[in-house]
Amino acid sequence: MRTALVTGGTRGIGAAIAMALKDAGYRVAANYAGNEEAAARFTEDTGIATHRWSIADYDECARGVAAVEAELGPVDILINNAGITRDVMFHKMTPQDWRAVVDVNLNGVFNMTHQVFAGMRERKFGRIVSISSINGQKGQMGQVNYSAAKAGEIGFTKALAQEGARFGVTVNAICPGYIATDMVMAVPEAVREKIVAQIPVGRLGEAAEIARSVLFLASDDAGFVTGSTMTVNGGQYIV
Ligand code: CAA
Repeated sequence: MRTALVTGGTRGIGAAIAMALKDAGYRVAANYAGNEEAAARFTEDTGIATHRWSIADYDECARGVAAVEAELGPVDILINNAGITRDVMFHKMTPQDWRAVVDVNLNGVFNMTHQVFAGMRERKFGRIVSISSINGQKGQMGQVNYSAAKAGEIGFTKALAQEGARFGVTVNAICPGYIATDMVMAVPEAVREKIVAQIPVGRLGEAAEIARSVLFLASDDAGFVTGSTMTVNGGQYIV
């Protein structure tokens, strides 16, 4: 039985991923940054253990991953899902808005992947799946910080895929479009309506639709898929 770790795994897309992996027979741990109440509810509902640390902090990641591995064994599958937004037009964006988003959304991917990659390489199996975004592919006004970090995740994926390939470690990114989560629901309603009008499928996506894409990339069947960017956006942006 393989072990999977999902960052930001107690809410939204991450929670759907953690549950789908558990249902598919993996041992699963979920990391979260701060929302204790949501984490407690998630464990109560799913039986999945949660671990609190900030992925923006390298040392916390080292301690957190060690704790997960002590409980469940080496991490075979890492889902870099945790992410934040600080949406604001660039001329009003503060260095803090920039840094907070890059620290979590991009540096967090380094901080987490670095804890597990060497072990995967030694064991000749690993799956790294990073949840990037449509906005890392196309750019989005009000999200210079987020778009830059999410585009960075795609470059990270393409480079590390080449390093992992000979060792059975695949590295892929998924670019969700607008999914019905707290993050998207925080967008002002009038803006959200404009966004839905740009989605050919005519609706927001569901977190479970991203989870099903993750299941494929995490599976043994996906051993030849590496360095890819899987677009799951209802046709909103076609690459
Ligand atoms: N799509 C289309 N139009 C948009 C837009 C978007 N994503 N974001 C802003 N606009 C439009 C607004 O509708 C508005 O148009 P009008 O002047 O015609 O009314 C114009 O841009 C200016 O916007 P605001 O009046 O809202 O300006 P503001 O300074 O008060 O706020 C903002 C700017 C913070 C960027 C706010 O518009 C906003 O939050 N926009 C959403 C940005 C966005 O798409 N974020 C994605 C969050 S979800 C996510 O990140 C997950 C993921 O990976 C997809």
